[in-house]
Amino acid sequence: MTDHSEYEHRRERLLPALRQARAEAFLTSALPNVRFLSGFTGSNAALLVTSDRALLFTDPRYQTQASRESGAEVKIVKGPLLPGIAGWMKRLRLNTLAFEQNRISFEEYQQLKSMAGIRIKPMSGAVEDIRMVKSAAEIATIRASVRLNSAALEQALEHFTPAMTEVDFAAEIEYRMRLLGADGTSFQTIVASGERSALPHAHPTDHPIQTDQLLLVDMGANVAGYASDMTRTHAVGKLAPKVRRMYRAVLESQLAAIDAVKPGIACTIVDRAARRILRAHGLDKLFIHSTGHGLGLEIHERPRIGRKERTMLEPGMVITVEPGVYEEGLGGIRIEDTVVVTAGGCEVLTPTGKELVVL
Ligand code: GLY
Ligand code: MN
Repeated sequence: MTDHSEYEHRRERLLPALRQARAEAFLTSALPNVRFLSGFTGSNAALLVTSDRALLFTDPRYQTQASRESGAEVKIVKGPLLPGIAGWMKRLRLNTLAFEQNRISFEEYQQLKSMAGIRIKPMSGAVEDIRMVKSAAEIATIRASVRLNSAALEQALEHFTPAMTEVDFAAEIEYRMRLLGADGTSFQTIVASGERSALPHAHPTDHPIQTDQLLLVDMGANVAGYASDMTRTHAVGKLAPKVRRMYRAVLESQLAAIDAVKPGIACTIVDRAARRILRAHGLDKLFIHSTGHGLGLEIHERPRIGRKERTMLEPGMVITVEPGVYEEGLGGIRIEDTVVVTAGGCEVLTPTGKELVVL
């Protein structure tokens, strides 16, 4: 658990961006950013940060929780939060407000614009930039999330029977996560069997899982707010030699990409390492998404591990490495680990094995 001084420190790190935007105050209503900067975990909040204060606005449901969780000054507002925020801006004689244009709705923007006497300035990505490099405490929480996620898969596989439907198996996985102590999932569990595994983000259906087919499982837990993310593709029964060759190629590609993860390397280089191997196997056209993404308080965060991402990897960044190939009518194979960038390279946090498991 992070203490309040850690949140204060995070808010201080935001101040240079605020000065650069020539704004006296910064407002965020994006819940992961509110949580990162204040510790508050409720579902309705906005945080106003100035050079020396932090005001947390929420509704009466959260009165007790907000003061317990957050070191910020809690202001309870009945009804919409923005009028309350405008009132406090006036009281504090703040005239310029930086807002996150990528996080608010058009309606909220119009309300902000019509706040009398306040000039608004767009400023997006400042908190996300800070969030990109994780602290030791955050890495420890992500590690716990990753371990729990792997334990949940292991337990769920002990209860696997081919007669199950995709939904049954997804439910088993999520049940195990909860029993192991997760707050929930970090995204909707993907269980896709047979041809449906060719849909990279398939929703589980009530189709029974067939034998002699692929079974792709993509799952993530939420532990103390932090995500994990893992994909494993299993064989239910026997697979055609072509499909087994595809599996080996994806595994080789994933290992090559992990090998490329080091500080000072642009994300695009990691993406390229994965694609190069698949190209050598004639499978690169079937790799239709990016190689990975950052994760933390959200399942998808900066940096993106994609063709165009020039961001340099730094120690403390936590990313996924997840190449995959998808052939319509045949199936899809993806192998995904969560990885932390270290001073000397990287550490794969995911403990689950990657050799093809036959169920
Ligand atoms: N594993 C879910 C995703 O990366 O979108
Ligand atoms: Mn992922």
